[in-house]
Amino acid sequence: MEGLRNEIKLGDCIEVLSKIGEPFADLILADPPFNIGYKYDKYHDKVDKKNFAAWTKDWMAACNLVLKPQGSFYIAIGDEHVADVKVAADELGLEMRNWIIWHYAFGQQMKNKFARSHTHILYFVKDKSDFIFNDDSVRVISDRQKKYQDKRANPEGKMPDDVWDEYPRVCGTFKERTGFPCQMPESILARIIRVSSNKENWVLDPFSGSGTTAVTAHKLNRVYTGIDISEEYVKEAERRIRECKGLPIEGESKQGWNEHLEAELKWLYHENKVPTEQLDADSFLLTLFSEKFNTRVRKTRNPFQPREIRDRLIQMRKSAKLGPLRGHSIPRKPRKSHTRRKPLENEVATK
Ligand SMILES: C[S@@+](CC[C@H](N)C(=O)[O-])C[C@H]1O[C@@H](n2cnc3c(N)ncnc32)[C@H](O)[C@@H]1O
Repeated sequence: MEGLRNEIKLGDCIEVLSKIGEPFADLILADPPFNIGYKYDKYHDKVDKKNFAAWTKDWMAACNLVLKPQGSFYIAIGDEHVADVKVAADELGLEMRNWIIWHYAFGQQMKNKFARSHTHILYFVKDKSDFIFNDDSVRVISDRQKKYQDKRANPEGKMPDDVWDEYPRVCGTFKERTGFPCQMPESILARIIRVSSNKENWVLDPFSGSGTTAVTAHKLNRVYTGIDISEEYVKEAERRIRECKGLPIEGESKQGWNEHLEAELKWLYHENKVPTEQLDADSFLLTLFSEKFNTRVRKTRNPFQPREIRDRLIQMRKSAKLGPLRGHSIPRKPRKSHTRRKPLENEVATK
């Protein structure tokens, strides 16, 4: 088991975990193949439905063996096999706590049905009354605080809903994009790791792919283990880990802004959904937001000042590092005309 500490292991997760056979993981985050025909390096992602359901139960059982009694288990899965996951979890005696829908824009366009724009994330624990859940680490500014200035509002904010629409899929223009076919965003994994584990806890990803879970766990000062059957993906994950740094430790935080802090600021901005204009105009909201940011990056001794945070956000907005909030469109120049533009000469007509 110690051989897995802070390692990306090459192998079949069922074989690797069955050999361990004793609990070590505080949190398991699994993003298995969805059986929808993705082109992976070493795995054929289109198998008979019954075989897939049986395999799902096998790998979930192998994970369950290594999950600690107070451990949490999150599984991302598509529509086709979400029922298999739930049935297997019931058979293994896992307790479901949330059925999260990750909703994203720019779903896959189809001509003869609605565009698919979500993934299921099922959240289980082993023991329904004894598990880690750091609510303070993920609370967001509530509508009572942001819209109604209601004195009864909980000063800590509210828990996010179980439909998560604040995390875009990793697209080609993103800095974190590796070229892997279905990379998870670090932001979504960071929320899960923060809420369901503590510093130095052990996070396991049995289907590591490009290593996003390990990278995020490492940045958040957790122990990580990733497993994948592709040597190429294992090497890619190891490269990402080599290139990422953990959070600056408390007291060492005078370096000012860096890439990681900017990423944290961006995630927090999208999670709290308070536009920069509103933060600029409302000092109460800016203070709330700044407290959340400082708590998150553990800058307790030398906290960022609200004005500094606001200015950074505005700067990131101007340099396009910060996209618009979901539901808040970017102001654009008015259209000159409503007529369709004519195709340019030599332009290929697509439809
Ligand atoms: C959906 S991808 C994971 C993507 C990952 N979350 C990321 O952000 O990059 C699923 C991965 O499972 C791996 N895989 C398939 N079968 C496996 C097995 N039996 N054991 C370990 N890894 C496996 C595939 O090679 C693929 O990289």
